[in-house]
Amino acid sequence: MKILVIGGAGYIGSHIVKLLKTTNHKIEILDNISTGYKENTQGLKLHLCDLSNTSKLHDILALNKFDSIMHFAGSINVSESFVNPRKYYENNLINTINLLNCMVDLNIENIIFSSSAAVYGNIDGNKPIKENFPVKPINPYGNTKAIVEKILEDYDKTYNLKYVSLRYFNACGAHLDGTIGEMHNPETHIIPIILQVASGRRDKLEIYGNDYDTKDGTCIRDFIHVMDLADAHLKALEKLTFTKKSEVFNVGNNQGYSINDIIKSVKEVTKKNIKMELKPRRLGDPAILIADNEKIKLNLNWKPKYSDLNTIIETAWQWEKTLANKI
Ligand SMILES: NC(=O)c1ccc[n+]([C@@H]2O[C@H](COP(=O)([O-])OP(=O)(O)OC[C@H]3O[C@@H](n4cnc5c(N)ncnc54)[C@H](O)[C@@H]3O)[C@@H](O)[C@H]2O)c1
Repeated sequence: MKILVIGGAGYIGSHIVKLLKTTNHKIEILDNISTGYKENTQGLKLHLCDLSNTSKLHDILALNKFDSIMHFAGSINVSESFVNPRKYYENNLINTINLLNCMVDLNIENIIFSSSAAVYGNIDGNKPIKENFPVKPINPYGNTKAIVEKILEDYDKTYNLKYVSLRYFNACGAHLDGTIGEMHNPETHIIPIILQVASGRRDKLEIYGNDYDTKDGTCIRDFIHVMDLADAHLKALEKLTFTKKSEVFNVGNNQGYSINDIIKSVKEVTKKNIKMELKPRRLGDPAILIADNEKIKLNLNWKPKYSDLNTIIETAWQWEKTLANKI
């Protein structure tokens, strides 16, 4: 199969690209290198293109005859989406509609879409979240993902566009071989932030609220190793092209760790002290988000292999030390 990985120069996309390189599939990358890195595309054809450039995008897709698309490109910072919602509706929504329209016009039938646990918003009770729980995002970022999922549903019904929407929980960790990892700038994700404090690249960790209704008052999240995410994408695409049935899956570990759990594990792995400052709660942060992952386990024969907290922190720490040494 010939696959176009859009956003393949970024954190999650680069791990899927690395996995796809070990298969028989032919892969190319499309990216504008706005938050991704050219070095993640080495050895592969890179189409340097912004998704807002519809005519260029159309030409690339028309010329190259891809069978399937994986779409990782987007803006990912929940807090920023409150301050600059326009950026999120333009990049995550309008640009995705551009892409879907090109696909429909050119009869490209399959897409794997990077959705997010942010589509669920605040869930009543502490139960793991199933895919059929209400979709009620509480931030503009989550709204963009939820709206794209609705559009995908409509495009499937009317244009026969087939999709798998993967609702990731917290992507984390780095490749086991130490060559790629998370490198957002600015970094907003909790694990790399704590590790930057441990390596001395950041002064302190800010904790946003310790009065949530959780076991230790800090937020609880479901952390999924990026290599497990990559595996989910490959399995989702292969199943989709075989069954031609659109699906939505959570991709999570079905286990929650609090911010304090993460800090404890980082201290154990790095043997460093973590300087902290308590801040007020942030807008749009639910107390607990844990995935029910039964559906993806059953349908795709997928299960997390690297998402125990120790492997996550060990691989992310190895990567952080590489980054810290480069500076
Ligand atoms: N990181 C997480 O924990 C997480 C959780 C849930 C969902 N997601 C989703 O996964 C996807 C990938 O996230 P990531 O952490 O790898 O982000 P990232 O910023 O590392 O990667 C995004 C990639 O897309 C490219 N890109 C962005 N806008 C583009 C545009 N208009 N045209 C062309 N290329 C563009 C960037 O240059 C980058 O290479 C995003 O859609 C994000 O919403 C991420």
